[in-house]
Amino acid sequence: MRKSVAIVNRKGGVGKTTLAVILAEQALLKGVTAVCVDLDPQENFIDSLSFFAGRKENERYLDKLIPCGIHDKVEIPDDGDILIVIDCPPALEDATMKGMKLADKILVPVMSDIFSILNLEVVFKQAEDCGKSRNDISLVTIGYKQGGATLPSSIRSNIDKRNYKVAAELPVHKTIAVNIASGKKWSNGIDMKFRRPFFELYNDLTA
Ligand SMILES: Nc1ncnc2c1ncn2[C@@H]1O[C@H](COP(=O)(O)OP(=O)(O)O)[C@@H](O)[C@H]1O
Ligand SMILES: [Mg+2]
Repeated sequence: MRKSVAIVNRKGGVGKTTLAVILAEQALLKGVTAVCVDLDPQENFIDSLSFFAGRKENERYLDKLIPCGIHDKVEIPDDGDILIVIDCPPALEDATMKGMKLADKILVPVMSDIFSILNLEVVFKQAEDCGKSRNDISLVTIGYKQGGATLPSSIRSNIDKRNYKVAAELPVHKTIAVNIASGKKWSNGIDMKFRRPFFELYNDLTA
């Protein structure tokens, strides 16, 4: 298995980096090499991975973790199962174009913020310019009430009206942020029913 996914949205604060961390961690937990490409100069993805790497209980996963900052050269192993996760900056700049070109699939997180879904046509157009078909791009929605995946109706109607493909409807769960910030596994202490949509997204991506 060798897959690559770019996580893109022009809007910041919509869950791109969180999703990148979760997918990378899922790969590591399954013994899959995670090549983690952070194209955002803020480097929150790399920083989150360093929190994860800093905990003793995560040591056993580290030989499969390959972090790569914006100025690094990516070293992708020739064999074994590999997931390349590319976290993009909140802008449609050259780095994002590079990320979209590198990836097989593009995920666009969308939160309760209406500005996370307005003007997505530009993202789709750019993805097409990067050689991607409409089928390679999916939204990932994130709910807004603790534990819930429901979206505000303004966002839901935008998605329905435009027939955007939705890869997953994820719940918002405040413990995820706490876990990531402390280097614990993202799902630590979170009930299975809240974790399942994340697992299913990972499984679909890597199938
Ligand atoms: N599923 C989620 N549940 C709870 N909080 C989330 C979830 N996804 C993202 N967040 C929170 O939303 C904020 C923005 O997320 P982040 O991943 O940094 O967005 P971006 O990379 O798009 O700027 C952070 O505080 C993060 O912890
Ligand atoms: Mg980010």
